Amino acid sequence: MEENSKNLSFPQKQVMAKNKDKTNPLWGGRFGEGASSLTRSYTASIDIDKKLYEVDIKGSIAYAEALKEAKVISPKELQKIKKGLVKILAEIESGKFEWKESLEDVHMNIESALAKKAGNAAKKLHTGRSRNDQVATDLKMYLNVKIDEALQNITSVQKDIIKQAEKHISSVMPGFTHLQIAQPVTFGHHLMAWHEMLERDYSRLVDAKNRMSVMPLGSAALAGSRYKINRSLLAKKLGFQSLSRNSIDAVSDRDFVIETASTLSILGVHLSRICEEIVLWSSSQFEYVYLSDEVCTGSSIMPQKKNPDVAELIRGGSSKTIANLMGLLSLMKNLPLSYNRDLQEDKDFIFRSIDYSNDSLVLLGLLIKGMKANTKKMEADCKLGQVTATDLADYLVDKSVPFRKAHETVGKIVAHAESKGVQIFELEISELRKFSKLISEDVSSYLDPVKSINSRKLVGGTAPSQVRKEINFAKKVLAKR
Ligand code: ARG
Repeated sequence: MEENSKNLSFPQKQVMAKNKDKTNPLWGGRFGEGASSLTRSYTASIDIDKKLYEVDIKGSIAYAEALKEAKVISPKELQKIKKGLVKILAEIESGKFEWKESLEDVHMNIESALAKKAGNAAKKLHTGRSRNDQVATDLKMYLNVKIDEALQNITSVQKDIIKQAEKHISSVMPGFTHLQIAQPVTFGHHLMAWHEMLERDYSRLVDAKNRMSVMPLGSAALAGSRYKINRSLLAKKLGFQSLSRNSIDAVSDRDFVIETASTLSILGVHLSRICEEIVLWSSSQFEYVYLSDEVCTGSSIMPQKKNPDVAELIRGGSSKTIANLMGLLSLMKNLPLSYNRDLQEDKDFIFRSIDYSNDSLVLLGLLIKGMKANTKKMEADCKLGQVTATDLADYLVDKSVPFRKAHETVGKIVAHAESKGVQIFELEISELRKFSKLISEDVSSYLDPVKSINSRKLVGGTAPSQVRKEINFAKKVLAKR
């Protein structure tokens, strides 16, 4: 790359600058001149990976303890390192720490700050450790924390859903297929469908978390370490369930990032679908729900508007989770073993996915909590779309007509009703009997939407008694979390 290339987005001054402070103090030994400031800027990741500071420090403290046990450092040196790292943590958290782009990343910024506080002891901390096993370990620890946050956020939204569903166990609404009115369901049953979607996301995240609980530390750059580090103890301290069994794989594996991103993109799809329904239902055409003001915004020109922007942005933002997954897959697909610097690019993708997910779950909770159902409109819509046509077919089946035959007969009744511009429940019994002599007065209980929902009592069905059971079951599951 030419240093004075005109196409770069670096400030011209920086492009032209000669490197004055020669080499990076942490890896500059073999370099005559330092990397150009352009290269330093281009390779730096500090803006993105500084989020790892807390797990990086936690990992370094545990690693220093392991070095002491292995007699690589003395107890005194360990104390110096620990004290220094604790101070650095406090400085970062109070905003006093000065992050330097010239020190590339979070690991070297912290190590270099430690050198100033703990002198020679600090210089021993990297014995038998490489940034390659360090960053893989850090990222797993960070994702573990963030996934826990997501799990809590999912559970909290599920509780909000259950509260609404309990209020509407028996509220009738049209259920949809192809976005056409299909059969009566209860609003509570529909809301509990959202709960089920999130329940699968929860279990996928737990799986991802368990699968990533393999500690890479001790793999060093790629070949493993010659020092007697007690990896099992280290893993225990850092919350890992097991140890990586191949150092080459351990430093280059990013399956856990892809798997988390994949899980979050499925969650994103769910959040988007839920929000699509909220947008639809809150429109004046549907008017099934009213949203609280706190999650809506107005229009700068149309004074009457109350727009569901939060729901729309959750729906729109979810596309980032899919894009991030694609980004990660394409980042990884051609990489030879073991570590390659390309891997540094993984963080931006996964951090964006996890932040979108956690933020959106919190906002979705607000949306659902503040949602007021308009049960009158839902009920009124059950007078549209021949919503109990399937129940009429079921009626004929109960009178021993084979289902396919019943389906055809009801199809003819529906065509007749539509030609008259009425619903099938508005037809006289005498009219219905023209299509089948088996129809008599008792048919009315099949044509009533409320009776229709009450009849669907199998496990997973929309009958209020069944929805009550499922809500109780869900509550029990959530209570254990
Ligand atoms: N910032 C790097 C990353 O995120 C750390 C590892 C650097 N390793 C190296 N050999 N240059 O991947």
